[in-house]
Amino acid sequence: MNRSLFLFPILWLAVLFSTAQSNALLYEGLPVFHGATIIGNYPGTDFLFTVPATGERPITFFSKDLPKGLNLEATTGIIKGKVSEPGEYHVKIIAANAKGRAEEDLKIVIGDALCLTPPMGWNSWNVFTNTLDEKLVMEIADAMVSSGMRDLGYQYINMDDYWHAPARDANGKPLPDPKKFPHGIRWLSDYVHSRGLKLGIYSDAGNKTCGKCFGGFQHEEIDAKTYAEWGIDLLKYDFCFVPLKKKEALARYQKMGNALKGSGRSIVYSICNWGLFKPWNWAENVGGNYWRTTPDIRDKWKITPFWYGSFMSILKRQTKLYKYAGPGHWNDPDMMIVGNYGLGKATGGGGADKGLTDTEYQTHMSLWCMLAAPLLTSNDLRSMNDATKNILLNPEIIAISQDELGEQAKRVVKAGSIWVYRKNLKDGSVAIAVFNKSKKEKKFDLKEAQLNLTGTYTARDVWQHSEMGTLKNKLNLSLNPHETIVLLLTSTQSK
Ligand code: GAL
Repeated sequence: MNRSLFLFPILWLAVLFSTAQSNALLYEGLPVFHGATIIGNYPGTDFLFTVPATGERPITFFSKDLPKGLNLEATTGIIKGKVSEPGEYHVKIIAANAKGRAEEDLKIVIGDALCLTPPMGWNSWNVFTNTLDEKLVMEIADAMVSSGMRDLGYQYINMDDYWHAPARDANGKPLPDPKKFPHGIRWLSDYVHSRGLKLGIYSDAGNKTCGKCFGGFQHEEIDAKTYAEWGIDLLKYDFCFVPLKKKEALARYQKMGNALKGSGRSIVYSICNWGLFKPWNWAENVGGNYWRTTPDIRDKWKITPFWYGSFMSILKRQTKLYKYAGPGHWNDPDMMIVGNYGLGKATGGGGADKGLTDTEYQTHMSLWCMLAAPLLTSNDLRSMNDATKNILLNPEIIAISQDELGEQAKRVVKAGSIWVYRKNLKDGSVAIAVFNKSKKEKKFDLKEAQLNLTGTYTARDVWQHSEMGTLKNKLNLSLNPHETIVLLLTSTQSK
């Protein structure tokens, strides 16, 4: 298909309609599996994973060779339990509905690694900042299910700053704000877990968090233990009120890393020191599963001064980091701003402008998936428009993010304002993102040689959900301002 055809308005409308349709169709036909196909968990600790699948409901789930200690709930696809014996378990999952059945291979790896693919979920910070409370968390968990996000693989609901009571209890135990969390965190995690989702929390390596709530310094063990009692599945650990010294950063992050490992629970560890002291060199060694590489993201394409986290400045800073990412350890260019339209309290200056455009949000999602970044949305899931849903719930781009090989895309072409990224995938296919960073529409001829590929490849457009023929000589691409086209290339030899 020649994309330059899309310049005609009527065809554009048809394409938009078919894109929206194709996501809607996900909920009508045969069962289709999505998201991660490999899950890590520590031995003897609570395991929870909802098999992400779409298709006409009801869907009934079955399994073969599920390790001892786990159970799969037939009506929901929620797998729960504990496995004490370390090992790599190859499980067959079967999903059946009125239209037919589908099977997939799921690997459950019981060992010392978590996050074998980039974590997917939601974080409260960008939009809600200090208005986080129990009711919000419950509503977001419900929305993650009702919007279909859980069916595509999203699972973490991460509470950021401001869940805290004014002080710890008399024994030094952390306490949530009793007004915002009247039932306590254990009750809330039970709610979130009952929906097959996971609950994350936030603290800081200093005495105080960035919002001046109590921090974790010198309370690492009691905090990790309490988080485990509360049923917490992820900790984001910030860096405010800490002396700006590398030695200090390493020691404090290591301390919490050890405490989490000893907590008796599989708790993902998110290191948030904004890229200071190059965490890609040490964060994995102190137990981190992913680490921020930049300052906070803003809902802006470009801003001055350049060290603020505009979309472009954050993207540029990822270029040389591809070699540090892999299963269990990821670069984190910060959570996403898709669908915020400038309304994020933390990222958009309170609606002073409209934030990014939908095309730019699509580029954002495309590149975060290519870069194997954590896919943590941070918008209001209760009120997403269709454009936002089509971006966040596109199964084909999510499959690139969750690919088992865990490669972070490398920028392989920089031709004026066109940047091309390449990410190799487990089955031998290759994902290519062609990004137009210009404010103007651009034409670009994509050639096999530029990508270091030989042989014949078929190309599929991941956003238009359509085949584009072979990439034998070149593909003539036409890109809107700030648009990214993502192609899945499959060798005809491997077919
Ligand atoms: C910042 C962090 C943000 C958010 C905020 C909370 O340091 O980068 O993502 O967590 O603190 O106060």
